[in-house]
Amino acid sequence: MADIDLAIIGGTGVYRLASLEGSEAVQGDTPYGAPSGPVRVGRLAGRRVAFLARHGEGHSLPPHRVNYRANLWQLKALGAQRVLAINTVGGITERFGPRVLALPDQLIDYTWGRASSFWDGEGGEVLHVDFGDPYTPSLRQAVREAAARSGTALVDGGCYGATQGPRLETRAEIARMLRDGCDLVGMTGMPEAGLARELGLDYACLAVVANWAAGCGDDAEITLAEVLANVEAASVGLPRLLDALLG
Ligand code: HPA
Repeated sequence: MADIDLAIIGGTGVYRLASLEGSEAVQGDTPYGAPSGPVRVGRLAGRRVAFLARHGEGHSLPPHRVNYRANLWQLKALGAQRVLAINTVGGITERFGPRVLALPDQLIDYTWGRASSFWDGEGGEVLHVDFGDPYTPSLRQAVREAAARSGTALVDGGCYGATQGPRLETRAEIARMLRDGCDLVGMTGMPEAGLARELGLDYACLAVVANWAAGCGDDAEITLAEVLANVEAASVGLPRLLDALLG
């Protein structure tokens, strides 16, 4: 199969890429088990693009049950070298209010108990990859330039805190994350980014802010309806941004 120019992993509220033309579904298996669902491979802006819904196309997988290893393995096996991850998040600091699209440059991992490496020590092999810059600078730059070219508002930078979920956080947990330096909170950023690095893939996170995190903003209860409505509104600029990124 010819190489894929860009793989996109869709998060909560992003289950299909409407602009993906002539797509075929690849239902794969990997040494790590089955991916979240079919990878849809088609053309976007004249390029070969693969799309995978992280939680499954019917959103049946909670963040701690996603087989992150299988997902990334499968995308690489199909020939992808660059992965743009779309992650729905809560906003903690002022610049990251609901409906913002953000391109974080750092992360802190608060998840636990997830299969977080391809190098589990089996066969006596151990690997420690460099992860000082968890998101690939050249891909971040390409996304930034595409946003500018397409007139898509994008907040550049910020620290993504990855929590275990599936419940949302307490106010005290968010207050601690703020002290730690987090700007955004989501449940799916890790181990995905670390696994991509282990596979040598370029990887960047496009975070879609769905709500103020607990205790931030207006203190209202966070509802799924609010999350989905804000993701839909924030995603309006996505097709233009992707066209510019691929063009
Ligand atoms: N916390 C964690 N994950 C999220 C949130 C949140 O507030 N909103 C969307 N995903």
